[in-house]
Amino acid sequence: MIQYVERHINNTINDKSCFAELLRSARHTHTGVNDWKQVFALQENNAHIIWDNFSNGRKLFVDKDDIISKFIKLHNCKNYLEIGGQPFAGQRSTYHKIQCENKDSVNTDPTIEFEYDLPAGSNHYVMTSDEFFEKVKDSKKSYDIVFIDAWHEHKQVLRDINNSLENLTDNGTIILHDMIPLTRDLEKDPHRTGCCWRAFADLRATKKDIDMSVLVPPWGSEDSLGIIRKGQQALFEKKIEYNYDFLLDNMEELMNLIDLDVFYKKYIETSLDK
Ligand SMILES: C[S@@+](CC[C@H](N)C(=O)[O-])C[C@H]1O[C@@H](n2cnc3c(N)ncnc32)[C@H](O)[C@@H]1O
Repeated sequence: MIQYVERHINNTINDKSCFAELLRSARHTHTGVNDWKQVFALQENNAHIIWDNFSNGRKLFVDKDDIISKFIKLHNCKNYLEIGGQPFAGQRSTYHKIQCENKDSVNTDPTIEFEYDLPAGSNHYVMTSDEFFEKVKDSKKSYDIVFIDAWHEHKQVLRDINNSLENLTDNGTIILHDMIPLTRDLEKDPHRTGCCWRAFADLRATKKDIDMSVLVPPWGSEDSLGIIRKGQQALFEKKIEYNYDFLLDNMEELMNLIDLDVFYKKYIETSLDK
């Protein structure tokens, strides 16, 4: 049985649902890409008990678009960029569900037929994210919110984050999907969760002038979401090893894990809109 304790790392109260401990305890029993459901079931059970204690009347989010929308509303964001956006996928796509004045999206998928029109001033670019950022390099285009959810490979995600930071407003937010693979094999598959965590970890160890955390489930889904804003952080000091066991063994500090209670305190309740 997992012990529910409050841990203080980098002056934040970290994940009380002991997500990392749970993944460590399951690492030899659930390894396949499709074992994630069992792992999530364990976590959901534990974390709901925690949430009952800490929710204080606040709600669980429904999906990632719900969290992105919360940032858009809190910071009055006007310009949204989705890397890996799928406006062609209709109602189920995150792009479709996000309400924002301007919504740009970039995807290598050649489908260009949409069921609905993009908002005026918004664009969908059929190209790689690298090509996109090269294209906008001189335009001084800036975004208040960027959602990164494209090719889930270490160096690609690192370029996507760095390029997004170059084009991010000072009060802007980057949200990253699929930060923590729930099983060992999921980490190997860039079409699934992949190893995006490695890019996040690189910046946790090298970049002091941003604030980074990872929101662990359940907040409404089985995914872990990375959150990056301009600010300050204490760097992760160990030498990073790019393998799943290193991630599991160092996850709390490496990824600066937060649960939903801390997410509310850190990102929402400090803002005017409560
Ligand atoms: C997980 S899906 C995106 C789901 C979407 N973000 C959503 O939430 O509705 C990943 C997408 O990234 C696209 N993709 C893969 N490599 C890419 C790259 N280098 N640049 C831009 N898009 C890429 C794929 O075509 C795919 O549609």
